[in-house]
Amino acid sequence: EKTIIKDQLNRPLRDLRISVIDRCNFRCTYCMPAEKFGPDFAFLPKSELLTYEEIERLAKIFVSLGVEKIRLTGGEPLLRKDLPTLVKKLSEIEGLKDIGLTTNGVLLPKFAKELKEAGLLRVNVSLDTLNSELFGKINGRGVGVDVILEGIKAAQDAGLGVKINMVVKKGLNDSEIVPMARFCKEQGLQLRFIEYMDVGSTNGWKMDDVVTKKEIYELLKEHYLLEPVDPAYFGEVAKRYRYEGTNVDVGFIPSVSESFCSSCTRSRLSANGQIFTCLFNGEGHDIKEFMRKDVTDEEIADRITSIWSGRKDRYSDERTEESVKTRKKIEMSYIGG
Ligand code: GTP
Ligand code: 5AD
Ligand code: SF4
Ligand code: SF4
Repeated sequence: EKTIIKDQLNRPLRDLRISVIDRCNFRCTYCMPAEKFGPDFAFLPKSELLTYEEIERLAKIFVSLGVEKIRLTGGEPLLRKDLPTLVKKLSEIEGLKDIGLTTNGVLLPKFAKELKEAGLLRVNVSLDTLNSELFGKINGRGVGVDVILEGIKAAQDAGLGVKINMVVKKGLNDSEIVPMARFCKEQGLQLRFIEYMDVGSTNGWKMDDVVTKKEIYELLKEHYLLEPVDPAYFGEVAKRYRYEGTNVDVGFIPSVSESFCSSCTRSRLSANGQIFTCLFNGEGHDIKEFMRKDVTDEEIADRITSIWSGRKDRYSDERTEESVKTRKKIEMSYIGG
């Protein structure tokens, strides 16, 4: 039985993004720059992470409150031990329609098959360039592109749906827009261009670093014929187009230039058990300590309902040069994007 709960702006709770770990094997300059996330960086100790049993219990309650879609994120989610075990548990939840994973792809050759067998449906793989030298610089670990292409191949072979996420940052990888589009079109992969966002406080974001959807679209139009595609579901963050005469889509996630807060149905659960109601709202609501006391599922559901009911977030609608500097924000690696 499902209860539908709405927030202050009348948005239902539909999606849950679960960050399973705050660590990553990459140090992408726009997310976890190596200078800030060095060898001494204090990541969460294991006791602070939600256990798989706790995540499963919360996920069930979220589903009873209207969630239809779960996405596992990190950090890099495949660094969490035995992730397929969690996927299996989640995929058995009745009423859940979609379960995906956002990953850098490095560990997909190892896990793709097992994840698919556990019930995972889709993976979104981050890849910002096809140039290995540049990619090595962006990921901060000198890892080349081949590793990721193998991961993508492994996911496709396993029968997982695959989308590619490319964050575009001016002067860094905008020269890779057309090569990435060409490659993904040939491979039949859905590529999504993501506007670089002011998440966290370590990446030194400036408006000038953003390449907008419009700019990328104009560039693509010089090479391809594109026709708009209707959203796959209410609140889809990507605006999609189809290469005419093919069944391949390309998308844009215009978080900065065309915010999509009015249809934002996403809640986020951090690795250490806090609920966040917006990617840019640094005020988390504890659920871990609460559930570690002797509480019933109903009490947990009531708490989630009260958090969601009070939600007013629409950060991207309201973003100003000033708010970028003054807002208390959470790191992307902590909340999984
Ligand atoms: P699909 O289920 O495949 O549509 O996944 P998704 O696009 O929602 O998730 P993914 O993890 O692949 O995220 C792609 C990009 O969209 C990342 O840069 C996210 O940070 C961004 N994104 C996802 N949800 C939101 C959101 O609610 N607000 C903002 N501002 N960005 C978001
Ligand atoms: N702006 C936009 N997208 C980002 N991602 C990480 N940091 C940023 C940022 N500052 C992307 C990753 C991944 C997704 C979860 O978020 O590349 O694809
Ligand atoms: Fe890069 Fe994703 Fe790791 Fe962040 S979490 S450093 S974007 S691979
Ligand atoms: Fe949702 Fe916040 Fe992103 Fe707006 S900025 S779409 S409210 S997560």
